[in-house]
Amino acid sequence: MSARQILVTSALPYANGAIHLGHLVEYIQTDIWVRFQKMRGHECWYVCADDTHGTPIMLRAEKEGIAPEQLIARVHGEHLRDFTGFHIAFDNYYSTHSDETRSYSEDIYRKLKAAGLIEVRAIEQYYDPVKQMFLPDRFIKGECPKCGAKDQYGDSCEACGAAYAPTELKNPYSAVSGAKPELKSSDHYFFKLSDPRCQVFLRDWTRRGRLQAEAANKLHEWLGNAGENKLTDWDISRDAPYFGFEIPDAPGKYFYVWLDAPIGYMGSFKNLCTQRGLDFDAWWKPDSKAELYHFIGKDILYFHALFWPAELQHAGYRTPTNVFAHGFLTVDGAKMSKSRGTFITAESYLQQGLNPEWLRYYFAAKLNGTMEDIDLNLDDFVSRVNSDLVGKFINIASRAAGFIAKQFDGKLLDEAFHDRFMGSLPELLLSSEEIAGCYEQRDFGRAIRRIMALADQVNQYVDQHQPWKLAKQGGQERELHVVCTMLINAFRLLALYLKPVLPKLVQRAEEFLNVAPLHWRDAAFVLPPAHTIDPYEHLMARIEPKQIEALLAVNRESLAAVPPAPTSDPQSPQRHAQHQQQTEDKMQQPAYISIDDFMKADLRIARIASASHVEGADKLLKLSLDLGPLGMRQVFAGIKAAYDPATLVGRLTVMVANLAPRKMKFGTSSGMVLAASDPEGKTAGLYLLAPDSGATPGMKVK
Ligand code: MSP
Ligand code: ZN
Repeated sequence: MSARQILVTSALPYANGAIHLGHLVEYIQTDIWVRFQKMRGHECWYVCADDTHGTPIMLRAEKEGIAPEQLIARVHGEHLRDFTGFHIAFDNYYSTHSDETRSYSEDIYRKLKAAGLIEVRAIEQYYDPVKQMFLPDRFIKGECPKCGAKDQYGDSCEACGAAYAPTELKNPYSAVSGAKPELKSSDHYFFKLSDPRCQVFLRDWTRRGRLQAEAANKLHEWLGNAGENKLTDWDISRDAPYFGFEIPDAPGKYFYVWLDAPIGYMGSFKNLCTQRGLDFDAWWKPDSKAELYHFIGKDILYFHALFWPAELQHAGYRTPTNVFAHGFLTVDGAKMSKSRGTFITAESYLQQGLNPEWLRYYFAAKLNGTMEDIDLNLDDFVSRVNSDLVGKFINIASRAAGFIAKQFDGKLLDEAFHDRFMGSLPELLLSSEEIAGCYEQRDFGRAIRRIMALADQVNQYVDQHQPWKLAKQGGQERELHVVCTMLINAFRLLALYLKPVLPKLVQRAEEFLNVAPLHWRDAAFVLPPAHTIDPYEHLMARIEPKQIEALLAVNRESLAAVPPAPTSDPQSPQRHAQHQQQTEDKMQQPAYISIDDFMKADLRIARIASASHVEGADKLLKLSLDLGPLGMRQVFAGIKAAYDPATLVGRLTVMVANLAPRKMKFGTSSGMVLAASDPEGKTAGLYLLAPDSGATPGMKVK
């Protein structure tokens, strides 16, 4: 298999709204696909950017009393923080407000103009005489022409669902100044999508058989049959005042956001090329061998599969290899809702301490490469993550690792294991290309079902061989060693298959397995004889239903003061209010913690199985802690001054079990034992906590 060159994009999120779980359907989906391609050894680049231009951004900056450049710089930081928090690994996250994007916008405009595909026409639009600007549809309000509902937007009615032109509204007013808008004429620039050249090209381009079936159908509906001319010209200019790029030969006219937004893909990639010494033209010339894919939501299919290819084609660039459209996110079967608290921001999810990989896993399990909507069913989310990831997958490692550490000095069986593995769990090795095929097709749901079916096979193997029984019987050491070696190898393969979805968890699994970062080709092998693994560290906690309740509560509370707004339009002024409200809420944190904060600490009863001095450490003792069903932990505790190790062995104490493991000079410490001491240091001494009799290792303390 020779390496492919693959350039991948996700849609550029508007710079005037917070990232929410709906957005994440797209960015997580793309990230999984990109990580998969990289694991396959291809040259794959993932670029994105903030979509920064437009009237809403200009007005919002004005309202905040800052320059638009300041606003978009701040939002860029917030967006990147949220994406990084969900492990979305762009190779470049740029901005459409960049020199690169400006230069390609001008270039494409000039070439389209030279080709005779740009036309200037006067149109009438609503104008705000007080604010002295033309008003986008969303900034005009009035009474619905169909049902008479008050305060409806200029394009559609929230009350009856009717769609109309802003000029049809009764008693219209400007949402910016409240003034009565006037109709005023002005010259606009149009891209002639109705030109026969565009129609002929698009009819061919959309029928090349690579588009998703539903997308192709939609596009054919929009295009109509040959001879029909259903495509209308597309208005690509806006009048000053506007935040964007001025059209080179048209002072006071600006490129409308949809003209520079997709060109932002090129701008971001060009910027990456400069950083990495890549040849931009080789990727974007008409006969380029490189592949280009755009992941988008179904709402922007028209732009990406009609305007964009037509624009590129007639400006002398390559066109996309494919456009991958996905559906919209619903939560518990309904549109995301602020009043129900299901309009969940990425930031709030992370702030509440929920694990981003839970959501990555759940979305992956639901995505199938079509345009169907995907539902986040919150009960199903909790039970699926807990039963699949913790119950089926993680447990394989935790069950075997304790025996390997305690009885076999951390080493796997000292014998070539491939044939033995094929004899017991052949499908784990043989499914690698089938799973790869599912990822390639973006049918992540099928990939996950296949991987979980393999995990079921492994768990059946555990039930048949019952390592805990072998450990108790005498003379079964070798059999126990075989079983545990089998399980560690199985865990490694499952981790490899899940790696595009769970990059951080698998990174920690790689450390535990003591292996180099896993590539897809590693699925052909098992671990070498007598391979040493590290002590097992707890890899993933279960979701507690109350964490979900808390998440809904913060998203409900923080929006309570905001008037209801349509969630469909990210450019709506209400987004702004929502954002401000959240910022204000953050500044009023009380000095108390909530019960949920406290519950984040996973406190457990531990039995000190062994305790020893650490060479070269004058404060530390090395403890190995038995957490019963949760396995063994190694912890370095600063209690040497107060305790003789020999007196500790066998004692029960309390530990924090979900503290992030820390690599120290002497080894990794995975948790912390609790001891009392005087913070002022007036009285010396350290006093380990001990539970009342009856408590057993692994019990939760709360
Ligand atoms: N700025 C434009 C895209 C320009 S691309 C050259 C835009 N921005 S957006 O912020 O509204 O949306 C970004 C992406 O997130 C889009 O692909 C959109 O379809 C997707 N989603 C936004 N809300 C969504 C859901 N509720 N569910 C799934 N995807 C959603 O559009
Ligand atoms: Zn109405």
